[in-house]
Amino acid sequence: MKEELQAIQEEGLEALRQVKDLKELESLRIDFFGRKGKLTDVMKGMGNLSQDQRPIIGKLANEIRTALTDAFDSTKNALESKQQEQQLMEEAIDVTLPGRKPAYGKAHPVMQTLDRIEDIFNQMGFQAVTGPEIETEHYNFDALNTPSDHPARDLHDTFYLTDGHLLRTHTSPVQIRAMEKQKPPIRIIVPGKAYRVDYDVSHTPMFHQVEGLLVDRHVTFSELKGVLVSFAKQMFGDQTKMRFRPHFFPFTEPSAEADISCTVCQGKGCRSCGHTGWIEILGAGVVDPEVFRAVNYDPEEVTGFAFGMGVERIANLQFRIPDIRTFYENDLRFLGQF
Ligand code: DAH
Repeated sequence: MKEELQAIQEEGLEALRQVKDLKELESLRIDFFGRKGKLTDVMKGMGNLSQDQRPIIGKLANEIRTALTDAFDSTKNALESKQQEQQLMEEAIDVTLPGRKPAYGKAHPVMQTLDRIEDIFNQMGFQAVTGPEIETEHYNFDALNTPSDHPARDLHDTFYLTDGHLLRTHTSPVQIRAMEKQKPPIRIIVPGKAYRVDYDVSHTPMFHQVEGLLVDRHVTFSELKGVLVSFAKQMFGDQTKMRFRPHFFPFTEPSAEADISCTVCQGKGCRSCGHTGWIEILGAGVVDPEVFRAVNYDPEEVTGFAFGMGVERIANLQFRIPDIRTFYENDLRFLGQF
């Protein structure tokens, strides 16, 4: 029996050396320690031993059992840590891989220009207000002293909707809305979108304007000039010159268009300014008495000036792109440059 036990020990230790994974180990355990296992079998036979043999063999059996159990446990530990290591290797994350850079958004170039224009006028005391982009003929034309036979009302320029509605062709109708809402003094700017049936390198059907309106007692054309020259110098640099050319707008009298000295050639004349040295940037004038009458202001009591400028145009003077339509193609490679 002694030899039998020692043989089992040998066999067990050898089997443990060969075992490859936890599953094999488990079947080995059943083989030796299970209810019908090898060791259990031998132990069962102890009852047949003589009185003096029993303690000796019993002691030996216990020793072998302990030795085998210990060997099992350490094999199990080794296999488990091997398995864990393998799992960790498989699930490993390579922390040395460079991360993905988040794409930062920023303001659209036209909005950057618009913000700058707003800042300059805010600082001169003009408050920004807004109005609807879907307008009536009354606000977009009639109240602005634009009779129905005026070329600006031609179908070619205006997007007409149904029921006398249209997409506003300029931000000027907000002048009327503002004056209806409040009494003078008024000092506002109106940043916003306008729409015209127009599409070429310097026109998009949707574009932005900033309107300006100042109404008070004794307002003169020279104050209009002062405000606009100050704006031009802040926007385009201190060396910028501005000139006013007589013009016609139905809602101002007298009216003017204002040019700035070319930002590319400093007024010497180049391709950008058509070799004139000047670039037109806005329309302006003294508010026509008819406009005041439309909002029940007394033209004998108050005077005012107004102006309107195209934002894409000004953005283009800053960023110099050959085709302003690219502002609205939403190509991030283009927009990301500004
Ligand atoms: N509304 C004009 C346009 O879209 C621009 C303009 C000119 C606005 C003179 C004004 C103004 O307020 O006084 O072409």
